[in-house]
Order: sequence, then C-alpha cells, then structure tokens
Amino acid sequence: MAETETPARNALLVKYLNEAYGKEKQLETALAAQIPLVKRPQLKKGLQEHLKVTKAQARGLEKRVKQLGGKASTNPDLPGPDVVAEAAGAAAHLANRAIAGAKGPVQAMRGTSPADNDLRTVRDDIWNEAEEIAHYEIIETAAAALADTETVRLARTYRKEEERMQRLLERQIPPLVKEVITAEVPAAERRTNRPNARTRSARTSTASGRTSTATRSGAARRSSGTTSSRQPATSRATSGSRRTSAG
Ligand SMILES: [Fe+2]
Repeated sequence: MAETETPARNALLVKYLNEAYGKEKQLETALAAQIPLVKRPQLKKGLQEHLKVTKAQARGLEKRVKQLGGKASTNPDLPGPDVVAEAAGAAAHLANRAIAGAKGPVQAMRGTSPADNDLRTVRDDIWNEAEEIAHYEIIETAAAALADTETVRLARTYRKEEERMQRLLERQIPPLVKEVITAEVPAAERRTNRPNARTRSARTSTASGRTSTATRSGAARRSSGTTSSRQPATSRATSGSRRTSAG
C-alpha cells in the first residue's frame, strides 16, 4: 500500500474517520442507556441490533485509521498519522463516554408514559443517524476524490446501515404516536376537532368576503413550500428509498 507515502492525504481521511469514530463511541453509550428503558419490542430489538452494528462500525473505523497510519481517537482535534496522542485520545474517549452517559439519566426522566419516552428516543436517534449519515457522506466523497477505494467502500457500507436504521426508527413513529394519544387523550376528544374546525371555517368565510378562495389557496400553497404541498406524507418513504438506491 502506498499510503505511507502520502501522509497529508491520509491525515485528511483519518481526521474525518476519527470524527465518525467519536460519534460511534458516543452512540454505543447512548444506545446502551436507551435500550433498558424502551418498551416497544420492535424498537428495543432495532436498538439492540444497531448497538451491535455501531460497535462493529467503531472497530472498522479504528482498523481503517490504523491502516492509514493514524491512531483511532474520539478527539477530532488530534492529528491523524501523528502517532503521539495515546493518553490524550484516551482522555477524549472518556469525555465522550461521559457526555453520552449523561444523556442516559436525562432520557430516563423524560416523557409522560413509556410510549412517550420511546417516541423521544426515536426522535433523538433519527437525529443521531442523520449526523452519522453526514459523516459517512463526507468520508465517502473525500475518499473518492483521493482515490481511496477501500475507505469509500467502508463509508458507503456504514452509511447504508445508518439509513436502514433511520428508516426503522421512522416506522416506529405512527404506532407510538397512536399509543401516546390513546394514553393521553380521552376517546371522546380523539375523533372530533369541532372547535378548531368551526374557527377555521369562520375565518375562511370572513376572509372570502375580502379575497377569492382560489387566490387564498394558491397563496397558501406557495407559502407552505412546494415539498409539503406537492408530496403527500405517504410518498416520503418512496422518495427516501429512491434517494438511498441512488446513493
Ligand atoms: Fe453508526
């Protein structure tokens, strides 16, 4: 491998690989804290499996960093191939674990019910997966530009794993929301929204005295943004999978 002949190239990749590594190590701790609190079986199983994936990703990142002449570190400020910072790396690793660990007890206190807690976990983890996807997109793009096919392959594989997890998390939202509503909103209040409906229709009839309905709905469509007005929520999964297959 010619990697030792091009330290600047490797340093750049090691920098981004180490940032992803730090994120994965944080997630290891966060997932381990979330799992015992989660009630929904599909979500618990998904998180348990993703914890294994996360650990494997961290190991894979560590291995690739070493192959590029660097030292795996959870401190993104540390230079890559400069093999000096074992103690500093260990300290940063502990700091990351502490940050992630602090999140556990906070999560334990959240929510008004087990389903509500699950929903908050899903929300946090969708956000975490999005960050990881961004890490791997950057690594993949940088490695491709530097003709490092092995790093490209690693980043692409991990990105797809994160995207799969993100889709699993998104699928948990409708049943969990339903469960929260069932637990927190009395049945008599669930199906009718009459007070709001009356307010809305009253507002519309008042406004139509001043502006035509067609003009108002056209303006509303423009101001609400093209994506939400043109694309029904049910088609989001389709466009998501299209994006994935394109990537
Ligand atoms: Fe991950």
